[in-house]
Amino acid sequence: MNELDRQLRRRLTFAIISHPDSGKTTITEKLLLFGGAIHIAGAVKSGKNTRASVSDFMEMEKERGISISTSVMGFEYGGRKVNLLDTPGHADFSEDTYRGLSAVDSALLVIDSVKGVEDRTRKLCEVCRMRHTPIATFMNKLDREGKDPVELLDETERELAIGVRPVTWPIGQGRNFKGVYNLVERKLLLFVPGEVVKPSDVMSIADLADPLIDERVGASLAAKLREDVALLSGVYPPFETAEYLEGKATPVFFGSAINNFGIRELLDTLTSMAPHPTPKVSEERTVLPEEEKFTGFVFKIHANMNPRHRDRIAFLRVCSGTFERNKVYHHVRSGKPFRTANPTAFMAQDSEIVDLAWPGDIVGIHDTGTFKIGDTVTEGETINFKGIPSFAPQIFRYIVNADPEKEKQYHRGLDQLAEEGVVQIFSKPKQSNIRVIGVVGQLQLEVLQYRMEHEYGARCSYRHIESTLAHWIDSGDQKAMREFIEDNIRRILVDIRGTHIFMSDSPWSFERAKANNPAIRFYSTSEMVEDRDG
Ligand code: G4P
Repeated sequence: MNELDRQLRRRLTFAIISHPDSGKTTITEKLLLFGGAIHIAGAVKSGKNTRASVSDFMEMEKERGISISTSVMGFEYGGRKVNLLDTPGHADFSEDTYRGLSAVDSALLVIDSVKGVEDRTRKLCEVCRMRHTPIATFMNKLDREGKDPVELLDETERELAIGVRPVTWPIGQGRNFKGVYNLVERKLLLFVPGEVVKPSDVMSIADLADPLIDERVGASLAAKLREDVALLSGVYPPFETAEYLEGKATPVFFGSAINNFGIRELLDTLTSMAPHPTPKVSEERTVLPEEEKFTGFVFKIHANMNPRHRDRIAFLRVCSGTFERNKVYHHVRSGKPFRTANPTAFMAQDSEIVDLAWPGDIVGIHDTGTFKIGDTVTEGETINFKGIPSFAPQIFRYIVNADPEKEKQYHRGLDQLAEEGVVQIFSKPKQSNIRVIGVVGQLQLEVLQYRMEHEYGARCSYRHIESTLAHWIDSGDQKAMREFIEDNIRRILVDIRGTHIFMSDSPWSFERAKANNPAIRFYSTSEMVEDRDG
C-alpha cells in the first residue's frame, strides 16, 4: 500500500445533521473532548442564533469569522484522522448546510428523542439520500421523558425513507433512564447521571436471561428490555455495514449528549465503520480518491466581514491525490494557473499552514476573488464535480439599486455576495437588466442589505414578487421546451448557469403545469440529479 492509500484510508470526513436544538453543539464538543482536540467544555460556539435581529446575527458571524477554524474541526481518534465539518445552525442559512454536505463522505444524524423527526432533519436527509451518503443516527436526550423508542424508529424509517437498524437499545427513559444494551456487542452500559461511564458500568451480557440485568436495572425494566429485544428482532434485520455504506439503512444509537452517555461508543463505531473518502462524480467521469493526480472543489467561501480586509477563505475539499503548498494547479473555470503559499488546515481551535493535504482533507485558501462555490482545481484535467447544487429558494424579490450614483458598488457587491452564496441571483429571459434574488430565509434579505451597505457602500431595495415555488426545468424535447418557455415567459427565470426555472405561486398551480406538460421535467435542485417531483 502506498502512502496515498494509507493516508486516505485513515481519513473520516463527516458532518452532523440535525434540527436546531437537538444537541449538535453538545455532541460536537464531546467528540472533540474525546479526540483530545479541546480540553474544556464550552469551547465550541453554537452556530445558532436565537436572537433574531440582523445586527445580532452579524455580530455572531463576526465572532465566528474570527474563530473560523470551527468551520472544520480536525482531530485524531482510533487511528483515524477525523474531519468534522460544521454546518451553520441558523435555519435561514440552510443552503450553506446543504452545500457543506457535498464535502463529506458520511453524516451523523442527531434526533431529539422528545421531539422526534423535525423539519430540517427531513430536508437534510433528502440531500444525503440524493447522494447515497451513509448516515448513522444518534437519538439524543434519553434522560428526558421522550417518545417511545419503537415509535421513534418507526417515525425515522417512515419520514426519512431509510431502513433503521437499532445497534443500542435504551433501558427506561427520563428519570428512569438506566442505560443501553448494545445488541451487536451484547453489552450492557449503565447510565449514572452526570458521570462519565466507568469500566464497571459496562458489562458483557451474552444472554438476555442473565439475572445480572435484573440486579442492575430492576426487574420490571429488565423484563421490558427482554420484551423489546424479542420484538425488535422480529421487525428489523440485523445491522449490516454494507447497507449503511450504501446509504440504505442507518445504525441507531441511543444516549444523552449532555450527560456524555453513548458518545464514546458512537465515536468508536464511527471510526471503525464510517467510510474513508469515497469516489466523487463529475460531469466528465468518476474520480477515485486513490488517483495520484490532485483534484478538489470549493464548497464554501467564508468572507472576512471587515470591509478593510476584504479577504475571503475558500474551503477546498481534496477529492484525489495530494494538494501541495506552492505547487501550480489548474483552476478549471477560468483556465488559469493557481498556486497558494499558505493552505490552511483546521484543528478544533487552531489552524496551521500545511505542506500537504490528502483526500478527505479540507484546506482553507486565502482568496481575493478567484473562487466561486463549486469551482474545481486539478493538475490540468477539465473536471466539474457534481454535487454542489443550488436549492430552490423559498423567497423571491426583485432587487433594485436604491442609490443610482453607486451603480458600480451595487453590482460588485451583489455579484460577490452571490458568489459567497448569501443569495442566489436570477435574471428574466430577454430582460437581463432585471434581477431577481432568491433566498431560503427572510434573514438573508436583511443580511444582504446590511452587507451591501457596510461593505460595499451600496444600497438596495426589494420589490415583491408573487411566485413562491421554483423548479429547475429541462426536457429531452427541445421544441416542447421552447414552447413551454414562450407560453410561460412571465414565470420563467434564468440562473447564472443559464438554466431555466419555472415559478409557480402554489403547489396546486405547479401540479397543474406539470400535468399539462408531460415533456418537461421539473427538479427541486439545480443539479437535476433526480426528478423528485416528477
Ligand atoms: P444544537 O447545536 O443542535 O442547536 O443543540 P445544543 O447542543 O445547543 O443543545 C440544545 C439544548 O439541548 C441545550 O440546552 C443543551 O444543553 C440541551 N441538550 C443537549 N443534549 C442533551 C441531553 O442529552 N439531554 C438534555 N436534557 N438536554 C440536552 P439549552 O438550555 O438550550 O442550552 P444550555 O443553556 O444548556 O447551553
